[in-house]
Amino acid sequence: MALTPRMREKIAEAYGTPTYVYDLDRIRERYQYFKDAFPWPHLKVYYAMKANYNPDVLRLLQSLGACIDAVSPGDLYLAAACGFDISRIIYTANNMKDAEVDEVMKTGVLMNIGSLSRLEKYAVQYPGTRLCLRFNPDVVDGEHEKIKTGGDLTKFGILLEDVDRALWIVRKYRLKIIGLHEHTGSGLVKPDSIMNSMKNIMSVAAKHNFPDLEFLDFGGGFKVPYGPDEPEMDYKLMGQDIIALFSDFCDLYGKKLGLCFEPGKFLTAQAGCLLVEVNTIKQNCKKTICGTDSGFPQLIRPMFYNAYHHIENISNPKGEKMEYDICGNICETGDLFAENRLISEIREKDLLSVNDAGAYCYAMGGVYNLRPMPAEVVIENGRARLSRKRQTPQALIRSILEEGPDACAGPPVFSNETCSQTLAKI
Ligand SMILES: Cc1ncc(COP(=O)(O)O)c(C=O)c1O
Repeated sequence: MALTPRMREKIAEAYGTPTYVYDLDRIRERYQYFKDAFPWPHLKVYYAMKANYNPDVLRLLQSLGACIDAVSPGDLYLAAACGFDISRIIYTANNMKDAEVDEVMKTGVLMNIGSLSRLEKYAVQYPGTRLCLRFNPDVVDGEHEKIKTGGDLTKFGILLEDVDRALWIVRKYRLKIIGLHEHTGSGLVKPDSIMNSMKNIMSVAAKHNFPDLEFLDFGGGFKVPYGPDEPEMDYKLMGQDIIALFSDFCDLYGKKLGLCFEPGKFLTAQAGCLLVEVNTIKQNCKKTICGTDSGFPQLIRPMFYNAYHHIENISNPKGEKMEYDICGNICETGDLFAENRLISEIREKDLLSVNDAGAYCYAMGGVYNLRPMPAEVVIENGRARLSRKRQTPQALIRSILEEGPDACAGPPVFSNETCSQTLAKI
């Protein structure tokens, strides 16, 4: 395993903290494991790049033959810039405006539409085109309420009860439905969920006539263990059941369809960590508060949906276990990476590793409190290198000022100073 504690220390020494580290060798292994677990000749792995859009991660997955699940024009352009041919991308955005649809359609990407309203507008504008339809699988699962996407309480997908209405639009405008799609949720906890969602989508395909159907796409959601003692699901076993189900379906359907999945977390979560330095230890009555040089805008999962991230004290791994609240440097009470957590004794200047931070961490980041996002380092063939530089506060401020309507020519920024004078100083 390349990402040893010694390696993390060296990376922190060389690149400072906070820094994200992604082990590309691990992502490569996960990709191969996924492919092996689902041995289908027409398998397509659409990496959900919303999980982690680091360009080195994207380029690696591109070289391995992955496809892309894109959810915004930004995703699309970055994937294309990292070498993905447009034919290897599916576009599954939510609540698009007309202008976005038009912009994206110019690229030739395959659109995946999940609402009747958008389907109708799309059909009027682009009759006769190839399209994928996203259905809500009517199965509720996911490791937190906020990331369950199936079921009629969420905004996602055309409801199964609306299949006929969707097909009416499809026929009226001669749309060619080449794919049917669903995504049940992220971190699917119940082993049967994927199978149940598959069955629901397969019955849509079986009951209705889709003469142009080429593939079924069953989304992502493959759970990974975050807790130290949490076992990983047996995906090889699950894969056998899924392939058997899909194969039987294709036999009945009379066509060997493509089988598509959209893993995000599965490929990248465990390959990443966020390295942070402890700068303050504070005893507040019974609590020991450990303050770090990062914060929730840089890793929001614990605050956003109570997610667990294992935290190691790299500087003092054998220290006596003590209970800490691990906090960030942001002016919010909820700015915590962990609460009441047992960790080897922490001292100021210790290096902590917030683990399994390769998915939905940097990608969900922002610059609240105007603290720039961390650097990103990748490990490839066991060697670390800088992937993306840490943004400086100066560059961040410059980008804010430069994007103003009167950028640099406008009124004083401070009482007696122009914007360019301010910029000249920083
Ligand atoms: C449509 C779709 N596909 C795939 C994914 C990836 O999910 P995960 O990272 O849990 O595999 C998501 C994430 O929510 C999604 O919305």
